[in-house]
Amino acid sequence: MAKITAAITGVGGYLPEYILDNNELSRMVDTSDEWIMSRIGIKSRHILKGEGVGTSFMGVKAVNDLLEKCDVDPMTVDLVICGTVTPDMFFPSTANLIAHKCGMKKAFAFDLSAACSGFLFGLVTGSKYIETGAARRVVVIGADKNSSIVDYTDRSVSPIFGDGAGAVLLEPSTDGSGVLDADLHSDADGGVHLCIKAGGSAYPATEETVRNRWHYIHQEGQAVFKAAVSNMSDVSLNIMQRNGLTPENITYLVPHQANMRIIAATAQRIGLPVEKCMINIEKFGNTTAATLPLCLWDYESRMKKGDNLILAAFGGGYTWGAAYVRWAYDGGDFSR
Ligand SMILES: CC(C)(COP(=O)(O)OP(=O)(O)OC[C@H]1O[C@@H](n2cnc3c(N)ncnc32)[C@H](O)[C@@H]1OP(=O)(O)O)[C@@H](O)C(=O)NCCC(=O)NCCS
Repeated sequence: MAKITAAITGVGGYLPEYILDNNELSRMVDTSDEWIMSRIGIKSRHILKGEGVGTSFMGVKAVNDLLEKCDVDPMTVDLVICGTVTPDMFFPSTANLIAHKCGMKKAFAFDLSAACSGFLFGLVTGSKYIETGAARRVVVIGADKNSSIVDYTDRSVSPIFGDGAGAVLLEPSTDGSGVLDADLHSDADGGVHLCIKAGGSAYPATEETVRNRWHYIHQEGQAVFKAAVSNMSDVSLNIMQRNGLTPENITYLVPHQANMRIIAATAQRIGLPVEKCMINIEKFGNTTAATLPLCLWDYESRMKKGDNLILAAFGGGYTWGAAYVRWAYDGGDFSR
């Protein structure tokens, strides 16, 4: 019997309307378009505005986009996983809120906390439910409202992050497409370099935690930069070696969009021309768990069935990994 794999059979995405460009940011902190473009490679990022509007708002939009495109009845979805570090609240989970609002009433739903690797970890987790036959339809979401955790007085962090959501549908396949291999890691040794100190059970919100700005992202840029390049390239090389992938037969590297220089250095270390990388960092910035599905969403019309993709991510924790995905359909063909 042919092996059952989890194929990505559709992609949805959503970016909030408001665009914060480098010129506006330069009026908020001491920076410039030139510095941000040369050191990070981001021109603008989308920001979710509105009182009481959280990450689930964007997740709902992305999932509705996905289910409409694929013409899938929400009641047939078995499992919903949402990678996020900016949940609407501690509980109910954001996945649960999205499932409810999108009418996925028969699904069980949970959030997965792995920062910028959240979607990748969710994709691999969801694929196991498909491979074992425990689920036939899994929706995996990556969504973050980073504007809720960015200190807009900190010039080393505020240019990097934006808000957004992406989602994919996983379904069983026997034609050799889907999530074919993965190499995932975490190491809390790196946690101190990229974290949010307060707001959890160790340091619940107090006047002092707010005064100390402990509810915002703390980032030691250079340590994170080095770890991102070496870890993303190492796992990508491992995936290439294990699966007979070469720079010639890889169609795209789908790298986490943290910094254009991180993407370029990773591509160089695995011997891939930067033209083979999916890149949309300039217009969306780092949307944390949403970068990978938003890349797939952005490039969907250009992809062909059988394309070889390596998805690679790195994030707070540290967390990192890579997955080999063979694409399951041609471009924007939703008649399948
Ligand atoms: C944050 C980051 C862009 C900083 O770039 P860098 O080249 O490492 O810069 P440094 O931190 O060495 O700072 C160099 C100088 O630029 C300044 N600087 C930092 N941010 C600036 C900004 N937005 N505008 C202008 N100057 C800035 C610093 O204050 C420093 O000035 P000094 O030399 O007078 O002290 C870079 O380290 C990075 O991208 N790291 C990875 C972050 C990341 O990917 N996070 C998400 C991971 S999932």
